[in-house]
Amino acid sequence: MLPRRRLGRHGPEVSALGLGTVKIGRNQGIKYPQGFDLPDDRQVLTLLDCARELGINVLDTAPAYGSSEERLGRLLHDRERWVLVSKAGEDFSAGQSHFDFSAAGLRASVERSLRRLRTDRLDVLLLHSDGNDLKLLAEGALATLVRLREEGKVVAVGVSSKTVDGALACLAQADVMMLSYRPDHLVEAPVLSACQEQGIGVLIKKALSSGHLGGDPARQAQEQLRFIWDHPATSCIVVGTLNPQHLRSNAAAFSAPAGEAS
Ligand SMILES: NC(=O)c1ccc[n+]([C@@H]2O[C@H](COP(=O)([O-])OP(=O)(O)OC[C@H]3O[C@@H](n4cnc5c(N)ncnc54)[C@H](OP(=O)(O)O)[C@@H]3O)[C@@H](O)[C@H]2O)c1
Repeated sequence: MLPRRRLGRHGPEVSALGLGTVKIGRNQGIKYPQGFDLPDDRQVLTLLDCARELGINVLDTAPAYGSSEERLGRLLHDRERWVLVSKAGEDFSAGQSHFDFSAAGLRASVERSLRRLRTDRLDVLLLHSDGNDLKLLAEGALATLVRLREEGKVVAVGVSSKTVDGALACLAQADVMMLSYRPDHLVEAPVLSACQEQGIGVLIKKALSSGHLGGDPARQAQEQLRFIWDHPATSCIVVGTLNPQHLRSNAAAFSAPAGEAS
């Protein structure tokens, strides 16, 4: 079974590995090395079964991931066993991203996410930053999410950030941050350390360089996952995959001795 850590000071216990769900809902305008077809419902159900079996309890989705939220809402029959992470601020339609960080836009987005996911609360809601983290903060976008938390629509809030300065500035209001950190991307390490000091949960995105893995991909994936998990600030590493074999191999990184890819 995968190890678990608490997601921030007051959050739930989360599995070392989480399942990122971009690829179940969107195959346009993305940065993976190869194109792919969206999986059918049977394939998504198989992937979710595999995640359950491995002890994964985090699902990461977003309105920007096309039909991901709607499909999860329709196919998950055990919502209460999962820590559901979604986002607001970016939407994807007609092959393009659209951004709206106004209070009304964020509220409407959360209502849509709740309907699509068929739930009455989001466990984590993150601002889906467009790269202007400091501007979003100054315009009160994170403050809107804090109000939604106070109203009980979401349990924990934070930002999927893109800049170090912006992320650091968000920490005063955040329960959870989604950050990038891996051997070839250490620039956000100070943010991880600050999160650890302040009891803020850390979800890691793009841990496997969005699939741009060289040499022996399975081995490199395991090495990167172990490196990231070695940082005590890491609560959960959200990896996107459509392939149950990749999911199993990635999970094995948390038990296999270093250097033994399976
Ligand atoms: N908030 C944001 O701004 C943001 C941005 C990006 C991502 N995210 C979240 O973070 C998640 C992960 O990010 P990501 O999907 O960009 O990148 P990632 O997790 O670094 O990489 C995913 C890619 O790696 C491949 N892969 C996974 N395991 C593998 C293995 N063992 N061997 C070889 N290839 C493997 C997957 O292909 P297969 O399907 O073939 O396994 C997929 O194409 C997303 O799903 C999303 O939930 C958030």
